[in-house]
Parts: sequence; C-alpha cells; structure tokens
Amino acid sequence: MKVAIVNGPNINMQGFREEKYYGTMTYDQLVHGVKDYAKTNKITMTWFQSNHEGELIDFLQGCKDKAYDGIIINAAAYSHTSIALLDTLLALNLPTIEVHLSDINNRENYRKVSYLRHACFALYHGEGILSYFKALNELKRKIEDDSDSTENLK
Ligand code: DQA
Repeated sequence: MKVAIVNGPNINMQGFREEKYYGTMTYDQLVHGVKDYAKTNKITMTWFQSNHEGELIDFLQGCKDKAYDGIIINAAAYSHTSIALLDTLLALNLPTIEVHLSDINNRENYRKVSYLRHACFALYHGEGILSYFKALNELKRKIEDDSDSTENLK
C-alpha cells in the first residue's frame, strides 16, 4: 500500500508556531513520527511539504502516475481557500483524508470552512500527530476494504 502525505504552508514551522494550537513537537519530530508509524503499519509513504499552492498541485497531479493508493492532506491555510487544490483532488479521484494538527472547528470562524473536504471521505483534526496516525489507520482500512470488495466481484 502506497500513500502520499501532503502538507501545505507553514507546517514546516511546526515547533515555532502558537503553542496553544500546535504544541511543542518540532517539524522533524512530526515527520519522523509519522514515517515510523507508517513503517510499523507496513504502509509505504511519501511525505511532501510545500509553502506554494502550485507545487502542491504539481505534486498531487504526479500522484496518479506514481500509483498511489491514497492521499492524506493537511493543506494548512489552503484548506480554507483553495478551489484549485480541491479541483486537483477531485480529478485525482483517490481515497483522500483531510487532517489538521489543531482543532479547526474550535478556532477562528474562517478555519471552519474547508474546500478540500468535498474531496475527502474523512477528517481528523485537533489531535496533533495523532490526527495523522488516525488518518493512516482509516486510509489503510478503506483501501483494504475496497480491494476486498473488488476481489468479491471477480
Ligand atoms: C492547520 C490549521 C490551519 O487552519 C492553519 O492555517 C495551519 C495548520 C493545522 O494543521 O491545524 O497552518 O492546517
């Protein structure tokens, strides 16, 4: 199973951001923690982070050719603004989960809107690195379930 974990602007600032929302875990700890968790669960993952909307779109478009089974995306502030990223996810048509480190439903009102949600089958937020772990578990369950039901059709 091959999964891409895509991260948007300022996620690389983790460890320097508002502690009340993002805690104290550094970006390196986040990346390594998620990579270790994926490895333990036998998931092959690629981690991608960019501060640029177009680079995120280019990376996602490339996921089709590289045969990813699913996507986990924390598009950070672009979650709340980017119809372009939504369009890419819709075109990609892979099982996708939205994650956030902070509890976006209990912050500023403008964070309650997510365009990307329209292309995602699940959302995990407000639990720091655990949001990523839960998303990996759920994505794995979904991909395995979907492949079982395809097997049944054969
Ligand atoms: C975030 C939440 C967003 O509202 C914010 O713009 C971010 C990080 C999160 O992980 O909690 O940069 O996506």
